[in-house]
Amino acid sequence: MCGIVGILGTEAVAPQLLDALKRLEYRGYDSAGITTVNGGAFQRKRAEGKLRNLESALASGPLAGNAGIGHTRWATHGAPNVRNAHPHIAGRVAVVHNGIIENFQDLRNEILVAGGDLQSDTDTEVVAHLIDRKLSSGLSPKEAVAEVLPKLKGAFALALLFEGDEDLLIGARKGSPLAVGHGTGEMYLGSDAIALSPFTDRITYLEEGDWAVLTRSGVSIFDSQNKPVSRRESRSAVTAGLIDKGNYRHFMAKEIHEQPEVLGHTLSHYIDLGEKRIRIPAIEALDFKSLDRIVLSACGTAFYAGLVAKYWFEKYARLPVEIDIASEFRYRETPMSGRDCALFISQSGETADTLASLRYCKAQGAVIGAVVNVAESTIAREADVVFPTIAGPEIGVASTKAFTCQLTVLAALAVHAGLVRGHITVDEEAELVEALAAVPNFALSALKTEPAIEAMSQTLAKASNALYLGRGTNFPLALEGALKLKELSYIHAEGYAAGELKHGPIALIDETLPVFVIAPHDGIYEKTVSNMQEVAARGGRIVLLTDENGADKGSAAAETIILPAMHDLITPIVYALPVQLLAYHTAVFMGTDVDQPRNLAKSVTVE
Ligand code: F6R
Repeated sequence: MCGIVGILGTEAVAPQLLDALKRLEYRGYDSAGITTVNGGAFQRKRAEGKLRNLESALASGPLAGNAGIGHTRWATHGAPNVRNAHPHIAGRVAVVHNGIIENFQDLRNEILVAGGDLQSDTDTEVVAHLIDRKLSSGLSPKEAVAEVLPKLKGAFALALLFEGDEDLLIGARKGSPLAVGHGTGEMYLGSDAIALSPFTDRITYLEEGDWAVLTRSGVSIFDSQNKPVSRRESRSAVTAGLIDKGNYRHFMAKEIHEQPEVLGHTLSHYIDLGEKRIRIPAIEALDFKSLDRIVLSACGTAFYAGLVAKYWFEKYARLPVEIDIASEFRYRETPMSGRDCALFISQSGETADTLASLRYCKAQGAVIGAVVNVAESTIAREADVVFPTIAGPEIGVASTKAFTCQLTVLAALAVHAGLVRGHITVDEEAELVEALAAVPNFALSALKTEPAIEAMSQTLAKASNALYLGRGTNFPLALEGALKLKELSYIHAEGYAAGELKHGPIALIDETLPVFVIAPHDGIYEKTVSNMQEVAARGGRIVLLTDENGADKGSAAAETIILPAMHDLITPIVYALPVQLLAYHTAVFMGTDVDQPRNLAKSVTVE
């Protein structure tokens, strides 16, 4: 979603702001803008669409000034056009914002009644007007911000710049993330450490309700009660070099191909290969033996990882799992107890609904675990115990390597829970650890299917609809396959449990409908073969993803992608790779914006 950056620099900051905005592109946006302050006056450029449009506007009219703010906007209130692009300016105040000011309509009315002149349809502009009015009444910028912040309902990360003061930036955070970067004689604000990575690795994350006053000589931070607070400065591990496409055409291709390596990194954090044991750092905080239930919640692809984990926890640890998408869970008022563990899964660690669900469970007294990729994120900081995925920065909007790393962590947790709850033996643990240890090699084999999948994608690109089927742990993978295809290629797709076909979706089958069947040769393979026959009998065009043992019986399939045979535990992890490749190549063939599909944002910080 919207990306924010602010710089108090020692030279003209517009090029640096643009550079930082490029690193925030991955969050998803539809317009962008920059404001600097120079010689006491604001200078501003804004453009609809991609950053190249803003870049051209800056090339034809550069902005001077050593202090400035920049923004990539993912439209919520008001169309994605120049008028609504940030920064918004009212009098002496310029503002950029990530989040939603929920009471903006009341505030707009208040401003209009007072004779204010609103220039945009956004919720954001009211913030600049309210603060400017306070300045006009004689308050200092700091006093004005302290008075206005409590009036804002909803979620926000704000960066504010003041005309006439070239050594001042004010940032505020409630609900949406904001980081302060410390330089030498320079200071920064950014939505995340990635934005600031070439400038500094010294980062202070603002906490909920915090606001910060930056000058070139440092930062003062205040809590929601306006009391000065000190927040830890940490070294960010994110370096500019990690945010690079390398030799790949898209971040998504790079991230798909990184999987053998990052799955290896993640595994080495959770398993002791020599001893063939699961070893989970900080697991003492979570006593699986005393739990009655796990409550899982997440959004999108991370939710599908949780759905797979439900099968694993219930099978290997006999531990009931309740799972729901976070946007529903947060308002459902689920009863919980201290014998529940609530587990949240998130790549970004900032997803608004997942974070709200976490806070609900915390208030109910549950132990909070989080499977998170961004170590410094809010979800990671608010959980009792964090299980990191070691996927590295994921820039492509569609989640790929984070998903398979989430599955890997969840598999290790389920096996460990099985052991401590007495449902699997040490020998069985060793067998499952060996299976997990083989994942990086199988992931390499899975990548070898790429030429066949690329060829197949050219046919798929002509379809208007597609169906994905799977059973057991590969049912959530069918859902994930459909989501990936939809979001990247804009082809409508649905995922179904293969056994559910007869209860409705079989009516869709005709010779134009591609049907992807994900069916490793496991204990329920024969059942899926029967479902495939039902599709074939109605003229459906089947593409079967199976292993060498399942290939023979797949005669109903028009095409078959064959992987090596592997342990049942790991099939959803390894089979995810061809599923991702299919969506990727179809999108490339169709010419869509693979890394930033239309309307999507990477880090969904509003509900
Ligand atoms: C789909 C995708 C999204 C995310 C979802 C949750 O490819 O990436 O569905 O999985 O928005 O995001 P995180 O994991 O950051 O909470």
